[in-house]
Amino acid sequence: MELTATEKAMLAGEQGRAARKAMEILSALGTIYAAERMVAVASVQVAGVSYDNLGEAGLQFLEEMAVDGRVQAPTMLNPAGMDVDHWEALGIEPDFARRQMRVLDAFRRMEILVTCTCTPYLSGSLPHYGEHIAWAESSAVCFANSVLGARTNREGGPSALAAALTGRTPAYGFHLDANRRPTLTIAVEAKPAGTRDFGALSRVIGRRLESTGKPSVAYITGIERAGLEELKSFCAGLATYGGAAIFHMQGITPEAGLFEPPADGFSVTRADLEAAETALSSAGPGEVDFVSLGCPHLSIAEIARAARLLEGKRVRCEFWITTARATKELADRMGYTAVIENSGARFAVDTCCVVAPIRGRFHALATDSAKACYYAAAKNDQRTLFLSFDEVVALACGEYDS
Ligand code: F3S
Repeated sequence: MELTATEKAMLAGEQGRAARKAMEILSALGTIYAAERMVAVASVQVAGVSYDNLGEAGLQFLEEMAVDGRVQAPTMLNPAGMDVDHWEALGIEPDFARRQMRVLDAFRRMEILVTCTCTPYLSGSLPHYGEHIAWAESSAVCFANSVLGARTNREGGPSALAAALTGRTPAYGFHLDANRRPTLTIAVEAKPAGTRDFGALSRVIGRRLESTGKPSVAYITGIERAGLEELKSFCAGLATYGGAAIFHMQGITPEAGLFEPPADGFSVTRADLEAAETALSSAGPGEVDFVSLGCPHLSIAEIARAARLLEGKRVRCEFWITTARATKELADRMGYTAVIENSGARFAVDTCCVVAPIRGRFHALATDSAKACYYAAAKNDQRTLFLSFDEVVALACGEYDS
């Protein structure tokens, strides 16, 4: 790989130990993937923030990098293991909280913006079409590549941090035109509407893509409308069930018009969606002791909807609303927070029901997120009930009629 004089200086340690380590990581990655050069990145999003995932070794690595590492591109964080301000209310242990705060302090010293969200595009980090970035959260990567037309691979924790500390990433994968071309056409005959339907659709398409056994880029036809929240849900599920970092949706995503639909592919019917929706539920309504909305983090419009649905009601089980700090502050100003908290539901800001250390605390989760269903079972050993957004709220209030 061809390095510029600045990149060679970083590799030689002339900009400090952390920059050298970061450039070593990126050079190794570039060599593995036969990149010819690095590209400058306009923003970075770092994952591996929850102490639950990092452990002591990860914390030590970050503290070492924080000694002289400073970011060279605006950088945000993926959700942490707790609400930084209200961790006690979520039942987080003090020892975990202390270690999580050390993690965040190391990031802060590196001048990473300590706002922890999987929807950076709703919190001020909005890349434009064609811009190179280095993001790590799989749902945000899929959203950035597909919905925004930005260019990013799905970075791991260390490679994203390395991009932040150098302002660069190797030019391979989805940074290159050739790898963004669609390979399969998916004709959606079902007419999905709402986050639950789009989550189910992502599972159907993701599983089929995965079963091909080779990297595929979906070109989706037949969707007439898809709103921000539906696309956010779809991206999270497609990354989870298909490992996909990009898709094109005819008439909706910006690069779809560059391509003709590929000849090969498959169709998705309403019956396929219904089968996926059934498969995502392993619990009955009576078993649910935990409800969560906000995977990916809720938009302000979704919080407004939750507030309307919860007004004057009382919830009967633990209920988390997960979102970004900036969105929560807007909810405070709009009066949504007071309405939601008066119902007994709680905000869990900076975190989510997957990365928080809650294994063993709850038996069954109700959610509208296909991604959350996957990780609730795989990581937290919970049963799941996959409902629409409104049904989740109704269930929490004891008003769901299955
Ligand atoms: Fe975000 Fe957590 Fe879901 S990071 S996409 S809310 S699993």
